[in-house]
Amino acid sequence: MTTVLTGITTNGSPHLGNYVGAMRPAIELSKKSESYIFLADYHSLIKQQSPELTHQSTLSIAAAWIACGLDIENTIFYRQSSIPQIMELNWILTSITPKGLMNRAHAYKAIQDSNRGQDKDKNVQMGLFNYPILMSSDILIFNADLIPVGSDQKQHIEMTRDIANKFNSTYGSFFNLPEPLISERTSYLPGLDGNKMSKSYSNFIDLFSEEKRLQKQINKIKTDSREPGEEKPRNSTLYKYFECFSNAARIKEIDNCFRDGMAWGDLKKQLFNLINNELAPARNKYIELINNPKKVEDILQEGEAKAIKVASKNLSEIRSLVGIRPL
Ligand code: TRP
Repeated sequence: MTTVLTGITTNGSPHLGNYVGAMRPAIELSKKSESYIFLADYHSLIKQQSPELTHQSTLSIAAAWIACGLDIENTIFYRQSSIPQIMELNWILTSITPKGLMNRAHAYKAIQDSNRGQDKDKNVQMGLFNYPILMSSDILIFNADLIPVGSDQKQHIEMTRDIANKFNSTYGSFFNLPEPLISERTSYLPGLDGNKMSKSYSNFIDLFSEEKRLQKQINKIKTDSREPGEEKPRNSTLYKYFECFSNAARIKEIDNCFRDGMAWGDLKKQLFNLINNELAPARNKYIELINNPKKVEDILQEGEAKAIKVASKNLSEIRSLVGIRPL
């Protein structure tokens, strides 16, 4: 049976891009495979250092997964930081990972490029440099096979395979080589400006804001100056949004609206209804959970107990392979 694993970094509240790109497909997959879904809270410490934000974001992202219908009975749902075996594996893998492999990471290279003319490593913490090794540890500790991620994470999965290969050839075969599952067309939602939706670009739509704010944010999706009555382009950001929230029959109707030149403003009203109908039930559940953190804590602790069982069994075999075992 395929083991699916994915995580979201806890550095903000969840946005609509997280939902379409990661949460909705992972919840679908979890109905037919063994799934590990986790909150990458140690990864978040690299991106921002606000204790309040990390704490709050852990609650809101966990509550969002549950509210969106994650089947917590059949999924292993946990915080990265609650599984100490991940950190132990992180060191074992750090010890055999070539520095040159990390030098080639896109995120690290992008910062180095932006530092041209200054110290190349300005604003680079060791955590950022080692990021792909921690991500490999997240995946390899459970020997996961399939990793649903955005295309920006593809290189990290390739690095995970390289690191797994290095371990297997050094110490004996233990790790599976995981495959990325890159979002399909209907699971990539661009930001308001048409670029990748991201907290860092401030071009996101909150997953669970109240209706008025949702409508306001949808109104900010970038369009062009085409007038009512003029045909609207199918390669527009707005059309992409419709694709992510419509079934086949619905998208045909929308297609007609675009062809017949419905006004951008009216199209946005339609889009609001579509998104709001999909999210409204989950929104209520989300608010209930946010106001009852103890319930979320209990659900996570249950998942963590299950995760630790698998992780500690795997880690003891891994330790034994590297020569760390009882005398
Ligand atoms: N790096 C991922 C992101 O930024 C989050 C993440 C951390 C992750 N560890 C993971 C995703 C392991 C998949 C598997 O989106």
